[in-house]
Amino acid sequence: MCGIVGYVGDEYAVPIVLEGVEKQEYRGYDSWGIGANTEGGIIIVKHKKPDDQEFDWFVERVMRVDFCSSRNAIGHNRWATNGEPSDINAHPQTDCTRKIALVHNGTIENYRELKDFLLARGHIIKSETDSELIAHLIEDMQKQNGGNIRSAIIKAVNQLQGAFSLLIMHADHPTLQVAVKKGSPLVYAEVKPSCFMVASSPLPIIKYARNGKDIEDGQIVFIENGKAEELSFADEKIKINPIIFEGTEEELKHEGFPHFMLKEIYEQPCKLGETIAGRVFTHEPFIRLGGVEPVLPQLLACDQFFFIGSGTSYRAAMLGAWMFKNYLNVRAQAVQASEVGSHNILAGCQPDKTVAFVISQSGETRDLQLAIEEIQAKGVMCLGIVNVVGSKIARMTKAGTYLRVGPEIGVASTKAFTAMVLSEAMLTLLLGRHKNMTRDECITFANQILAVPGCLELIFQQADEIQTLAKSMVDQSALMLLGRGYHYATILEGALKMTEVAYIAAVPELAGEMKHGPIALIKPKFPVIVVAAKDGLRGAVIQNIMEIQARGAFVIGICTNGDEEMQKLVDKSIIIPDLPSHLATIPAAVVFQLLAYYLGVERGYNVDKPRNLAKAVTVG
Ligand code: G6P
Repeated sequence: MCGIVGYVGDEYAVPIVLEGVEKQEYRGYDSWGIGANTEGGIIIVKHKKPDDQEFDWFVERVMRVDFCSSRNAIGHNRWATNGEPSDINAHPQTDCTRKIALVHNGTIENYRELKDFLLARGHIIKSETDSELIAHLIEDMQKQNGGNIRSAIIKAVNQLQGAFSLLIMHADHPTLQVAVKKGSPLVYAEVKPSCFMVASSPLPIIKYARNGKDIEDGQIVFIENGKAEELSFADEKIKINPIIFEGTEEELKHEGFPHFMLKEIYEQPCKLGETIAGRVFTHEPFIRLGGVEPVLPQLLACDQFFFIGSGTSYRAAMLGAWMFKNYLNVRAQAVQASEVGSHNILAGCQPDKTVAFVISQSGETRDLQLAIEEIQAKGVMCLGIVNVVGSKIARMTKAGTYLRVGPEIGVASTKAFTAMVLSEAMLTLLLGRHKNMTRDECITFANQILAVPGCLELIFQQADEIQTLAKSMVDQSALMLLGRGYHYATILEGALKMTEVAYIAAVPELAGEMKHGPIALIKPKFPVIVVAAKDGLRGAVIQNIMEIQARGAFVIGICTNGDEEMQKLVDKSIIIPDLPSHLATIPAAVVFQLLAYYLGVERGYNVDKPRNLAKAVTVG
C-alpha cells in the first residue's frame, strides 16, 4: 500500500507533485520519490526516510536537483511490501533503458513467474520490488511490438495478477502519462484545460479541481498532448464515471494543533454531530438512514448479523454485534476481516436472512474487500459503514451509511472509531423501531444518541490531567487495561492506540479473566487502567479492582460522573459522562485516545506517522 500522484500540463510539475506526495503521506511514509520527464531524459530523486527525518528533508533533496522546468512528473509514497525500505526499492522504478519510469500501489501476485521470465530474457533487475518488474515487462513488450508504447502497456498490464494502480511515463513521450487501475484506488481530473492530475486519492487534487473521474478496475487513461483517452484493458474506448471530490483544503491541515491526531480527537463533538445530523429524532420516525432505507425490508427479514472490520474498525464491529444482541435479541457476531476466510463463518446461515455490516474508515482495506467478495459469493448481503465517500468498499456494498467525519489523516484512527460506534447505535435504533422497541424506548435511545457529541466536552476539560498522567507513565514499558461487557471493546481499542502511537505493550484483559493469568504481571505500582463505569457490571469490577489493589497495582479508573464511591476506590480517576454502557464506550475511548496521544508525544514519537503503520492497508 502506497500513494501515487502525477501532474502533466503547462505548470512546473515537480512542486505540484511534491505537495501531492506530502498530502498522501498517510498512505505510506517509509520512502518518498519523484520522477520528472525532461528533455535530457527522466530524472528521479527517491529516498528511504531516515529515522530522524521528516518530509522536509526529502523536499530539500528534491530542491537540490535541476528538473529543467519539467511539466510532467510522478511521485510516490511507499509502505514496503516487497523489499525493505531503501533508496533502491523506492519508486519510481525503471526498466533497463531508464526510459520507462513508473510508480505503483498494490502487489503483483505472479511476481516470481514474471521475474524468471524477465531474467531469462536478459533484463537486469536492480531492486527487490515487484513494481520494477512492470517497467521491464513494458520494455519487453515494446521491443516485441516494434516500439508502440500504448500497446506495450496494454499487453503488459494484462499479464499482471494482483492489485495495482500505476502511473507510467516514457522518456520519448514528453507529455505522456498513463494511469492504470486494478484493485488499488485511482482518480484523475483535468485540473485546467489540457492539464491533468492523477492520484491514489482526491486529496492532492482538490486544491485544483472538484470534478474528477473515478477510474475503475480494468480501466486505463492515456494522457498525451493535453488529451485524455479512456480505455479498457481490452483496448476498447470507454467512458469513466465522473465524481465530485469532497473535502476542503482546511481539512488537510492541522492548524491550531500540533498534530492531526490531536485535531481529530478534538473534532469529535462537531464531527459526531454531523454523523447524526438529520438522522436521529426524539419523535417519529426517530431515525432516518437514507442509505439503508432502500434495503430496509430485506434487513428486517434478517435474523443473523455479522459485523466485520480490521484494526480499530474491528473493535467497533464488536460493539455493533453486542448492541444488536442486547437490544434486538438477534444472533450477531463480530469477525476480523482477515479471518473471514479462515472459518466457515456463514455455516448454517440462510443467505436471505443474513446480513454482514462491513466497517471501514478508508473504504480500501484489502482484507475487508476479500471478505466482502467471499460473503457476497455466498449470496449474503453486505452493507457498508464507511467514511470515505465513493470508496471501493462503499461501492462494493449494496447500501449502507457514511460516517460523515471528513478526512481522517492521523494514522491512528480516532474520530472514525467513535462515529462507527454511533452509526451502529443508529442502526440498532432503526431496526429496533421496526422490530421490538416501544415508542418510549425509541425516545430514550434517540435522546441518548443525541447527547453523545455534547458530552465529550467533559473529557476535554480533563485534558491537562490526562497529560499529567501520561507524563507520570512515560517510562512504563507495559501496562494493563481492564474492562467488562461493552468496555472490553473499549480497552481493546485503548490498548491498540497505546501500542500504535506510544509503542507501549498495553495488555487488554477482560476484568473477570484477569485472575486466570494476567494477574501474574501485577506488582507494586504496576499501572492498570480500569473502565469502572456505573453500569450493571459495576459490582464485579469493584471486586476486580480490589484484587489488583491487594497486590499493589496503581489503579487508574475511568469512572462515571457522580460515582464518588468508585472515584474514592481507585488511585486516580478520569471522569466520563453518565451514558448507557454501549454509548459510554465513546467517551471512554476518547480518554484512551488522549492518553495514548500524550504518551506518544511525551515519549518523543511522531504520533501522526507511527513506525511501520499506514492508514489504508491495501494488501491482503
Ligand atoms: C490499518 C490502520 C488502522 C485501521 C485499519 C482498518 O491497519 O492502521 O488504524 O483501523 O487499517 O482500516 P479501515 O480503513 O478499514 O477502517
